[in-house]
Amino acid sequence: MDAKTVRDVDVTGKRVFLRADLNVPLDDGKITDDSRIRASLPTIVHLLERGATVILASHLGRPKGKVNDGLRLKPVADRLSQLLGRPVRMTGDALGAGVQVAVDKLRPGDLLMLENLRFHAEEEANDPEFAKSLADFADLFVNDAFGAAHRAHASTEGITHHLPAVAGLLMEAEVDALSRLLERPAKPFHAVIGGAKVSGKLEVLEALLSRCQAVLVGGGMANTFLAARGAELGASLVEADQVENAERILGEARRKRVRFMLPTDAVVATQIHARARPRTVAIGEVPPDQMVVDIGPQTVAAYTEHLGRAKTVFWNGPMGVFEIKQFADGTNAIARALAERADAGASVVVGGGDSVAAVEGLGLATRMTHVSTGGGASLEFLEGKTLPGVAALLGMDAEIASEKTA
Ligand code: 3PG
Repeated sequence: MDAKTVRDVDVTGKRVFLRADLNVPLDDGKITDDSRIRASLPTIVHLLERGATVILASHLGRPKGKVNDGLRLKPVADRLSQLLGRPVRMTGDALGAGVQVAVDKLRPGDLLMLENLRFHAEEEANDPEFAKSLADFADLFVNDAFGAAHRAHASTEGITHHLPAVAGLLMEAEVDALSRLLERPAKPFHAVIGGAKVSGKLEVLEALLSRCQAVLVGGGMANTFLAARGAELGASLVEADQVENAERILGEARRKRVRFMLPTDAVVATQIHARARPRTVAIGEVPPDQMVVDIGPQTVAAYTEHLGRAKTVFWNGPMGVFEIKQFADGTNAIARALAERADAGASVVVGGGDSVAAVEGLGLATRMTHVSTGGGASLEFLEGKTLPGVAALLGMDAEIASEKTA
């Protein structure tokens, strides 16, 4: 990436404010996917091994500026402690006199984790005073939070007005991997896009139509496209207010000669429940009381066959309600097909919480070219948008020139 990274500065003896995205999914206080914590390890270890003092900060969930005991970072600190093989001390707040005392006691090689930044409304408001107070803890800012880089918050953007700032190793890997999709990807470049709703994916779909040779759609959002083509979908989720947008995208795909693939069959059920009895029907034959819960075997065969020719693939969003085992076949088949493509030398990038969870759950993550920790951030990056967290790291050369190792 064009920005300086932790490798370009001498961090020994420095106090580093490290922003990571440790926003992991929790179920009843238990972490259900720790990939963001594991992905943050290389930068944490890099800094600690070089004798930096690390003040680690993240958000968790959306507490909307209020303390929420269910969104404390303690489970994250505990998991990080297991992974690092050393205790990870936490503060009770992200800011305040107590935090300052704890920071003052730190020695080179120490690690201190701050409580959820979003317990303060000033974080999301990118409040300059709040950003300055965070900056006052440290000599250097390291941003490794690619997953939050699309947010201009105090700890991702505001803080860079007060401290020299460099990218962490994860931020660098993410930007490099996703940039390769934007800059002359090997063709054919196919995108697999799924998930429940088309509304959050319109912009990325439009961007992908200018870059890809084929877009393969699954998940609930496929229903809206099928409805735009006149299909009856029984009790399935269809975003009625998006049908017009879906028609527009289908028209754009035709004009740009991009193959836009939609399911031809589906797994349906009367309810989204582990005890539901699914059956497979052709699109157009969904009974009125049933809803689409996965792509069907014929669609899986067509998609995997088409993906077999791809040299570059981007995948975001599951093909069905994959959290329920009997509705997960489509998502799992796509994950396996993409791992095989990656084994065969294609560049395969997976982004977005659910598709990443599917890939992780099947033990396929290491076979992919890159598994992004960014959901919204990876989509906005591929839309060609400037991410505030990344932009803030660019143009830092002059400020960190004096930090550079000889
Ligand atoms: C994410 O999970 O996509 C990031 O952590 C950003 O979280 P946010 O959407 O709540 O800002």
